[in-house]
Amino acid sequence: MGKIFITGGSGLIGSIVNKKLSKNHEIINLDLYESNINSTKTIIGDMNNFEDVLSGSKGCSAIIHLGAVIEVNTSWELVLKNNFESTRNVYESARLNNIDKVIFASSNHAVGLFENDSPYKDIVKGNYDGLDPQNIPIIDHNVPIRPDSYYGISKAYGESLGRYYYEKFNIQSINLRIGTVQKIDTPKNSVRHFATWLAHDDIAQLVEKSIDNKLGFEIFYGVSNNKWRFWDIKNAYNKIGYEPTENAENYRK
Ligand SMILES: NC(=O)c1ccc[n+]([C@@H]2O[C@H](COP(=O)([O-])OP(=O)(O)OC[C@H]3O[C@@H](n4cnc5c(N)ncnc54)[C@H](O)[C@@H]3O)[C@@H](O)[C@H]2O)c1
Repeated sequence: MGKIFITGGSGLIGSIVNKKLSKNHEIINLDLYESNINSTKTIIGDMNNFEDVLSGSKGCSAIIHLGAVIEVNTSWELVLKNNFESTRNVYESARLNNIDKVIFASSNHAVGLFENDSPYKDIVKGNYDGLDPQNIPIIDHNVPIRPDSYYGISKAYGESLGRYYYEKFNIQSINLRIGTVQKIDTPKNSVRHFATWLAHDDIAQLVEKSIDNKLGFEIFYGVSNNKWRFWDIKNAYNKIGYEPTENAENYRK
């Protein structure tokens, strides 16, 4: 029932998470814009400003760090200013405010260069010939990072910051390598989404269960139970009982 601090909570995933968590938690949202969820208290502020994060998160029991520049092709300057600085502000505020859990919106782009290799490069193009969806080598939480962009590097960096704050200061660090969440909740804009789609209900479940369970340093893939999924969901199932209810294949026309 603790109070939860969210950065970037007015955005797409923030709104989904806010709706889900506000039933059982008080939510404090730090964003450049007001949230359209009534129950959410928004502080209009800047996550790149340490004071805004430190004062906003005081008295909270967990932080969900969603704020970021989110385009894969974002320039180094913008990634550095937004994604690097803010993530350190979040962890350092957690430490100073005795908050023992941070959930970080990482990304599949931390391991995006696997998609240069078969069979992933074929699957994301929809070339399924000769492939058995039951026998795809699964990319799990133990693979080496293979970022595909400065954006992907910023997410891998966020994970490494989490490892540091977990081992050094015992702050639970849950890193969600999110696939593809879209405003219109279907996998329809690209054939890649038949592998990578993450439905609204499934991201809400993943975040809620990450809040409810005592954890350590974790990497969970945020993906629905898609027929052509190539990211692992077993680790999240084993640790928090994540059971995605959606499958992109059901939306294929
Ligand atoms: N949507 C996806 O498919 C997807 C996939 C992988 C990872 N992610 C990650 O999930 C997180 C949320 O993504 P989203 O799709 O909801 O994006 P979004 O753009 O809808 O939301 C991001 C929010 O962050 C806020 N923000 C940006 N700069 C800020 C600042 N300086 N101070 C305070 N707030 C700021 C924005 O105003 C916005 O409300 C991001 O970290 C993104 O990288 C999303």
